Amino acid sequence: MAEVVNPFARAAVEAVAAATGCPVADFTVTAPPRPELGDFAVACFPAARATKQPPPAVAARVAAEFTPGPLLAGATATGPFVNFRADRAAAFAWLCEATLGDGDLAPASVGAGKTVCIDYSSPNISKHLAYHHIRSTVIGHALAELHRALGWRVVGINHLGDWGTTHGMLIAAYLKWGVTGPLDVAALNGLYLRFREAMKTQPELNDEARGWFKKLEDGDPEARALWQQFRDVSWAEFQAAYDQLGVQFDEVRGESAYEADMPKVIELLEAKGLTSISEGALVVEIPGEKTPLLLRTGDGTTLYATRDLASAIYRWETYGFDRSLYVVDRGQGLHFKHLFAVLAMAGFAWASRCEHIPFGLVRSGGKKTGTRAGNVVLLKEVLAEATRLARDLVVANNPNLADAEIDAIATQVGVGAVVFANLAPQRDRDVDFDLEKVVSLEGDSGPYLQYSHARCASILRKGEQTVALDDATRAALPRLGHDAEWAVAKRLLDFGDVVARAAATCEPHILAHYLLDLAGDFSRWYTAGNGDATLRVLCDDADTRRARLALTAAVRTALARGLGLLGMGAPDVM
Ligand code: ARG
Repeated sequence: MAEVVNPFARAAVEAVAAATGCPVADFTVTAPPRPELGDFAVACFPAARATKQPPPAVAARVAAEFTPGPLLAGATATGPFVNFRADRAAAFAWLCEATLGDGDLAPASVGAGKTVCIDYSSPNISKHLAYHHIRSTVIGHALAELHRALGWRVVGINHLGDWGTTHGMLIAAYLKWGVTGPLDVAALNGLYLRFREAMKTQPELNDEARGWFKKLEDGDPEARALWQQFRDVSWAEFQAAYDQLGVQFDEVRGESAYEADMPKVIELLEAKGLTSISEGALVVEIPGEKTPLLLRTGDGTTLYATRDLASAIYRWETYGFDRSLYVVDRGQGLHFKHLFAVLAMAGFAWASRCEHIPFGLVRSGGKKTGTRAGNVVLLKEVLAEATRLARDLVVANNPNLADAEIDAIATQVGVGAVVFANLAPQRDRDVDFDLEKVVSLEGDSGPYLQYSHARCASILRKGEQTVALDDATRAALPRLGHDAEWAVAKRLLDFGDVVARAAATCEPHILAHYLLDLAGDFSRWYTAGNGDATLRVLCDDADTRRARLALTAAVRTALARGLGLLGMGAPDVM
């Protein structure tokens, strides 16, 4: 069972563990079905099994023996559950420390001393970074940020597809036809498509391409120089997109980097007696699998899988990871299943630490997007269009802003909208992409979240008071306590556990949905003040106002932090 991060919920689990003599790890915390029942429900089934008593009897005893402490104010039993109530004053104070003071909503202790390698984006050179690449990029980036927030050492890796027979095709095509305009990814992609088309009627081109790849592998200077040029041109285009998305890698190490390791990897597998020859190729047969893992073709060239074996070993030897994640579309599920199986067969115990993190496809207009068909949806075009739409929205809301400021906000909102649309659906679902909806302020969109953040910022500006965690603020906090305020606070308390869960399961959508819930709770509280003057944030009573502004600032901090973890900006004005 995962550790409970929020100290109030943890106190609830610890209270039940202490009262029953069962280990803390046996229990989990859930929310009671109705808020009036309490804040944290702990089911007593594990203790009931251990003591052979009916669960309701255990729950009743735990509740009866409970004495209030600094974090928990009360406990009542409902059936098999003990429902605990947090000490609200203590919770508000803790939240303000965590958001405005030195504390942190996401505790950096969870991952201390642990290392995660995350292979993400990893596009193939000489092709456009098509829109579907964004899913790997944004999911991987979010996973990196989530782990980092929890104190993990994160190694973000771009395993560029810069090796393989495709590069032989490109060299052959380039030497055959050349390019008329500038040599860029569009030109390279054009060569690739033309070559594949030509191969249909001229099968001998296949041999030509293989020949060039063989030369490339053998270090032929002409082949190498062209390949390097294609790689540089491609990286320049990728880098521009990563800059727009605010994505950086700790290591950019393409498939080509493993070229020198190939003989070693193959020897290792041969020495273990795992290899065999099948139709001229060197393979590893995997028990229970219909197809083998291909190591080397008949003409001696190594394959994607061989290089993945080498890179997995390299990562282990270099980083000694606790987790090694591969954020790659689910179409490669079998490849990773076989890869991890072969690593395990080779005797690497750490193979169990490798995980394929698959994701669904992006459909625009009902069609899946891909480069091969030529109907590419380009990431840079999507981002440009999203930014244009976002600009209209920002201008409509803020007619008096300077142009430069509008551009900066529009970029954050446009890019953020696209990022959020990729993260909000469950990872393994296909994503239907409707740009108008993605950029809309209505509904569960990225811009809606950013707008909620900007709204908090605007309230704080109107409050004309810098919200610092000083003595005056601390003294005012006991003014908070209304149920609508408590609903907001309770949601904030969940932040750390949500981040921990999203990281553990590699599901950024858990955080995305949490932030929507938080924005909703905040909005309900804030708008309740329109109908009920006693709830108004910007009220006349100075202390109450101070306390409510502190809670507003806490929400703003949590939204900004959460958006940042998802890889989105949080503008103060929208
Ligand atoms: N370059 C591959 C592709 O675009 C993805 C590589 C993923 N990472 C890996 N280690 N296999 O399909």
